[in-house]
Amino acid sequence: MIRVVGIGPGDLHYGLLGQEAWFQEADLILGSQRHLDTLPQNFRQKGQVAPKKLADLKAYLHQQPEGRRIVFLVSGDPLVYGLGKWLTENFPGQVLLEPGISSMQYLASRLALPMNDAYLSSSHAKQPNFDFLLSLPKVFLVTDQQLGPYQIAQEVVKRGLRKTVVIGENLSYPDEKVSISSAEQVEDRPYKMNVVVIIDEGFAFFTNKSTND
Ligand SMILES: C[S@@+](CC[C@H](N)C(=O)[O-])C[C@H]1O[C@@H](n2cnc3c(N)ncnc32)[C@H](O)[C@@H]1O
Repeated sequence: MIRVVGIGPGDLHYGLLGQEAWFQEADLILGSQRHLDTLPQNFRQKGQVAPKKLADLKAYLHQQPEGRRIVFLVSGDPLVYGLGKWLTENFPGQVLLEPGISSMQYLASRLALPMNDAYLSSSHAKQPNFDFLLSLPKVFLVTDQQLGPYQIAQEVVKRGLRKTVVIGENLSYPDEKVSISSAEQVEDRPYKMNVVVIIDEGFAFFTNKSTND
């Protein structure tokens, strides 16, 4: 069985209290190095970095002996642009999903920004349909290095739209940074791991000390 555990945005305080029992009974704990770094010291020896390429990961998981209890750590929530979908599709009946706090949810709470009318999307390793996304009032995006905050903001500028762009970098970590600006003001610079929110102008943001607007 593969228990897929969402670790939340990263800081241990946003993990589930029940995780320790799953780590205790696991024979093997997989994840990226960032995920494995969140493991309590006494479970570290069970940790192993999972193959990055999906084809390699599939082969690796198929090689595991029958009955081996595997915990797979993933960031945020497994079903929000995470490995949960791929794992349940590729290992039907063998996967148990444990939800975590998505980086999108975490950022929404930092901003006191309701998610009721939010559309969730991703530019992580894909080209989103910006004509569609930018027709919506509130869009959350997980991103990657190729299509990040600046490139996304430029899609708004190109269309002459009036939108506010929120960028949440390294959320929940000590160097977390949340910036709020118009699309025109988004800088062309390297960004740390981030979530972008594009929202119609006019929302009165609640700001706190980690937010620089
Ligand atoms: C493969 S997606 C996984 C999303 C995850 N399932 C979730 O619910 O947050 C990876 C992307 O999530 C975002 N992300 C995850 N953790 C983050 C964090 N602590 N701070 C900022 N962005 C984060 C980044 O856009 C990153 O490239």
